[in-house]
Amino acid sequence: MAKTRVVHACIECGTSHPKWAGQCSGCGAWNTLVEELTAPPEATTADSSSAPSTPVLIGDVDTQIGRPQPTGIGELDRVLGGGIVPGSVTLLGGEPGIGKSTLLLQLLAWWPATTLYVSAEESAQQVRLRAERLGAVRPDLWLLAATAVPDIVAAIDEIRPALVVVDSIQAVADPTLGSPPGSVVQVRACAHRLVVEAKRRGVPVVIVGHVTKDGGLAGPRVLEHVVDTVLSFEGDRHHSLRMLRATKHRFGPTDELGLFEMAAGGLVGVPDPSALFLADRRVGIAGSAVAPTIEGKRPMVVEVQALTAAAPCDAPARRTSQGIDGGRLALLLAVLQQRARQPVGNVDVYVSTVGGVRLVEPGLDLAVCMAVVSALTFRPMPADLAVFGEVGLGGELRQVGHTRRRLTEAARLGFRRAIVPGNSPNGVEGIQMLRVATLAEALAVAGLASDDEPPRGVRSRAQ
Ligand code: TYD
Ligand code: MG
Repeated sequence: MAKTRVVHACIECGTSHPKWAGQCSGCGAWNTLVEELTAPPEATTADSSSAPSTPVLIGDVDTQIGRPQPTGIGELDRVLGGGIVPGSVTLLGGEPGIGKSTLLLQLLAWWPATTLYVSAEESAQQVRLRAERLGAVRPDLWLLAATAVPDIVAAIDEIRPALVVVDSIQAVADPTLGSPPGSVVQVRACAHRLVVEAKRRGVPVVIVGHVTKDGGLAGPRVLEHVVDTVLSFEGDRHHSLRMLRATKHRFGPTDELGLFEMAAGGLVGVPDPSALFLADRRVGIAGSAVAPTIEGKRPMVVEVQALTAAAPCDAPARRTSQGIDGGRLALLLAVLQQRARQPVGNVDVYVSTVGGVRLVEPGLDLAVCMAVVSALTFRPMPADLAVFGEVGLGGELRQVGHTRRRLTEAARLGFRRAIVPGNSPNGVEGIQMLRVATLAEALAVAGLASDDEPPRGVRSRAQ
């Protein structure tokens, strides 16, 4: 029998190094290498041989086999581009407690055939109690409380489920390997085995992977290249909103956002996010701007809020953002300072998107800038005015995609005017387009600043 080897594996990305180092050469993360025992190559590859494949003509390939099957959960189908593809392996990553087990139990409750839920973390009793709360107790849903991969494979052979959920990959192990569950070696080997079994049987498998910011558990990044689809489930524990995104998807686009609310009876899809985000909006308040944004194909009108306050004399100005990227906020503040003559240099700036939604879309830039200047000048934006556009480093406003879709959604929610980049295509009925070329012009149109009356510095106001 071959000897086990000691390697140093990165718990972030899985890259193995023959020697310990402070930084991983694979992903650049610091202090992520841990000592691991690898099993002899024969043991790890023994089960991974799949059925021999012969060449086929491209026209003869059966496309029906690869068609996604709807899950019955609209927001999940939206993210997956229609549903789950037979034989595919999906990794659902997220922080502990975010709702991964809940979502997957709900998925199994909907699936129109025999399913298997492998619980490697919780007892069958715990899963049953949760399933009762979710209304997921049904005659063809099987539970297996097991951690050993051979037991899981045996259960799949016995039950022949049409969908398998393994919760979680960090808790399952292959007993032939020397490493503990959750180690890079185990996580990778077990996932590989599940992928092989899924492909061999054409059964879709969904694997849960906890994202841990610290600690010794190997994260979902270790598995990204092994699986077909990587879903990330996010949200703020203090908000009920949960966001589902695909970060890798072999069967469709990765730009759709699924939205859920965690309620007493489980996760509930949010079909009209704009209405949710604007529900608590108070008009006539300085420091607020509303933007029609696009996530995938869906328009969403969101409110951006900002607060500015004089920074203490001896401390650098603080910039805090929630829901938008901190680097993007820093850039926009620099553009406001240098191109639109707004004195944001020595003020603390806090910006957040309402409702806890995290957005990465450049069309939100203008709303962030407007909210900051509105806060800075104590001038509220007109209640019926929405804004969108990407802000360039020169202070120019750049066109973003889906102008008409954004305008339609804003009009549906009662907005009558929208500040848009100058070269945007024609708009829609019911909402007037105010075309502007620069950020400074946008501020003037919104009544937040004008050339002959530049806003006064915040220090004198705040003190
Ligand atoms: P869970 O699915 O266990 O999270 P994960 O598998 O990602 O670790 O969900 C955890 C939280 O969800 C828990 O704090 C309780 C809450 N929850 C509800 O609010 N309503 C429900 O119906 C369920 C099942 C859970
Ligand atoms: Mg769980």
